[in-house]
Amino acid sequence: MNRKGKNILITGGAGFIGSHLVMMMVNKYPDYRIFNLDKLTYAGNLENLRSIEESPNYTFLKGDIVNADFIQNIFDQYLFEGVIHLAAESHVDRSIDSPNEFAMTNVIGTLNLLNSARKCWAGKFEGKMFYHVSTDEVYGSLGETGLFREDTPYDPRSPYSASKASSDHFVRAFFHTYGMPVVISNCSNNYGPLQFPEKLIPLMINNILKEKSLPVYGDGTNVRDWLYVSDHVSAMDLIFHKGRKGETYNIGGNNEMKNIDLVHLLCDICDEELSRSANSSRKLITFVKDRPGHDRRYAIDAGKIKRELGWEPGTLPEKGFRKTVQWYLNNGEWLNRVTSGAYQQYYQKFYLT
Ligand code: NAD
Ligand code: DAU
Repeated sequence: MNRKGKNILITGGAGFIGSHLVMMMVNKYPDYRIFNLDKLTYAGNLENLRSIEESPNYTFLKGDIVNADFIQNIFDQYLFEGVIHLAAESHVDRSIDSPNEFAMTNVIGTLNLLNSARKCWAGKFEGKMFYHVSTDEVYGSLGETGLFREDTPYDPRSPYSASKASSDHFVRAFFHTYGMPVVISNCSNNYGPLQFPEKLIPLMINNILKEKSLPVYGDGTNVRDWLYVSDHVSAMDLIFHKGRKGETYNIGGNNEMKNIDLVHLLCDICDEELSRSANSSRKLITFVKDRPGHDRRYAIDAGKIKRELGWEPGTLPEKGFRKTVQWYLNNGEWLNRVTSGAYQQYYQKFYLT
């Protein structure tokens, strides 16, 4: 693909995965002009992008994907030729508390982007791509065995996953109905630096550091498949540039763990890194009321992306978890800044009442 001078829109680039993606794209593809569109909700943190904010091929656009006029204006102005859409409300617990926000951002926001891309590209689809970044949660919940494949029927069970499933359906509908060049990926749980500490891993590390209780939902035996965020970014790079139009690619870490085993591992790594006595952090574990509708197990068959695009997770879990713990321990100031203000009220509501 000829990249020279192409304007690429990345939505949600101030969030966790988006900021890693934006940094990679700006550094790896100097010929692209990268536009990062983000509303800067509680989850958006522009400080994460300090290293590239002065780059000549990078522009930040503050805006809301729910605002159709704004989206149309930026498409008219910048004539984007590629879109990588990550902006979303992403936290399951928040979706249980306020599902409407999830429908607005994740469904209507996605539809606004599709409409404007379609209008801007006006049937001239050569060299264009709309890449929608989705989640494995659309497939529902697995029992003890089995893996999510690209043809697993959708069965979303939380307001978050229902909104992501709906957005996936709209993206596919634009492919079948209008011939829009689209591609979708459905990825498992990401972890790594810069993740907002409402999600399991940074929340646990932050609490261990501050010697607060570690809230494990239910009996802690729910299973997630963990992928280091840079591995997700390398998969996204391949899918955006080489993915087949109209296709879906599942992305996973091949790294299933029960929550309680993961929390034990984090406690033990932290004890070592902080030179605390063995088992001292495990004593902070508290089993709390389960998440309503808590999906039991997620696991991915990532065979298709391996066969078609040659992608496999490159980070060994032992290495990824240790690197992640070290990053949060070395970036206490970052943690303190993001855990102040609105986040504290949320934390208060979910864990302390
Ligand atoms: P995040 O919550 O860290 O970041 C979301 C970003 O979107 C934030 O910067 C936020 O400000 C922005 N945003 C929210 N609403 C917006 C709006 N209306 N207009 C413009 N910007 C808005 O999320 P994340 O964990 O980085 O996830 C990114 C994407 O990847 C999401 O679509 C999510 O569904 C998907 N995903 C996440 C994971 C994971 O484990 N985190 C796994 C698979 C897929
Ligand atoms: O599978 C991909 C999805 O992974 C993404 O689409 C979502 O955006 C992302 O938030 C994540 O969803 P989960 O609900 O799996 O992630 P979370 O970090 O919230 O929880 C991981 C597991 O840990 C889950 O089984 C719930 C449990 N948990 C979570 C928190 C925050 C706890 O036991 N205690 C906690 O305090």
